[in-house]
Amino acid sequence: MIKMGLIGLGRMGKYHLNLYDEIPEIKLMGICDINEEEVNKLSKQTGVRGYTNYEEMLDLVDAVTVAVPTRLHYEVAKKCLLSGKHVLVEKPITTDLEEAKELFKIAEEKNLVLNIGHVERFNGAVMELKKIVRDPFLIESRRVGPYAERMKNDSIILDLMIHDIDIILNILDDEVVDIQAQGSRVYSNLTDLASVNLKFKKGTVVNIIVSRVNQKKDRTMSIAQKDAYIYLDYTNQDINIYRQGQSQHIFGDKELTYKNEYILERMFVYKDNPLKLEIKHFIDCIDNRSCRMVSVEHELKSLEIALKIDEILHKEGK
Ligand SMILES: NC(=O)c1ccc[n+]([C@@H]2O[C@H](COP(=O)([O-])OP(=O)(O)OC[C@H]3O[C@@H](n4cnc5c(N)ncnc54)[C@H](O)[C@@H]3O)[C@@H](O)[C@H]2O)c1
Repeated sequence: MIKMGLIGLGRMGKYHLNLYDEIPEIKLMGICDINEEEVNKLSKQTGVRGYTNYEEMLDLVDAVTVAVPTRLHYEVAKKCLLSGKHVLVEKPITTDLEEAKELFKIAEEKNLVLNIGHVERFNGAVMELKKIVRDPFLIESRRVGPYAERMKNDSIILDLMIHDIDIILNILDDEVVDIQAQGSRVYSNLTDLASVNLKFKKGTVVNIIVSRVNQKKDRTMSIAQKDAYIYLDYTNQDINIYRQGQSQHIFGDKELTYKNEYILERMFVYKDNPLKLEIKHFIDCIDNRSCRMVSVEHELKSLEIALKIDEILHKEGK
């Protein structure tokens, strides 16, 4: 049984909170937020002891989830690691590469698990991708949706695009050799939409579009490779695979009646709650039932590329 603490009871923290009951290996020992009213309310609802200072609950726990605003991840995660606690920190781990490296170094020295909450890795469709993607020519990824005022201080690249960068790096296992980025500020003083092209060493061309100016949410990825065109819908956790058709049918008067343009294969995807799988994976890593899903090197690479893109956009005022 892992004794857990939850730090940060905002939008993401509440999603975590709602899932602990479904994971028998966890005993939630404490919840914490600087918002006392919220702590009291949730503590009453769940029967779990509430704190407004997370350091006071560290003695009670083996592991924590850090779901505070991104700018505080480094400080909070570092204190928890230094106190000997395993840490599941929401994505992005930090906004600075050296800080991320330092956190992983502390975790390694203290033999602690430090996982990042890249929840899309646990999307059933994404988990199937690695099995079917082979030397793709082109990957197009779209993660778009409407604007909300709470987003105005967050980098869209570190907030949204990092999911796509992480997934693409994971399926390609290749090196980025060129980055081009275009963007625009629409509602906030930061980039609200961006289109990024990545060129990989083995030739794959990648286009990622992220936006918080689209009225409708749309989260998809398509992959063109020699034998297949793969279309993934993140929201439904669906994958369709299209392959070129071979047959056409001609009836009596020699008129073409119909042509089989493509064969559609619908992949069977095991669908569970990705956040629950992410938390379970964290627990399995602590209990040595599982190795980390993604290497530390890969974790740092996704952040490094995201930060480079952010820098290009920022420098050019896009
Ligand atoms: N994995 C995902 O798909 C995903 C989705 C949304 C958000 N996130 C990440 O989760 C993190 C939190 O985002 P959110 O949308 O829940 O933000 P939020 O603002 O809704 O919640 C943050 C909470 O942290 C609390 N807090 C601030 N300082 C604190 C401190 N020192 N100690 C304890 N609590 C403190 C705030 O009072 C607030 O309740 C961000 O890093 C964000 O990038 C991840």
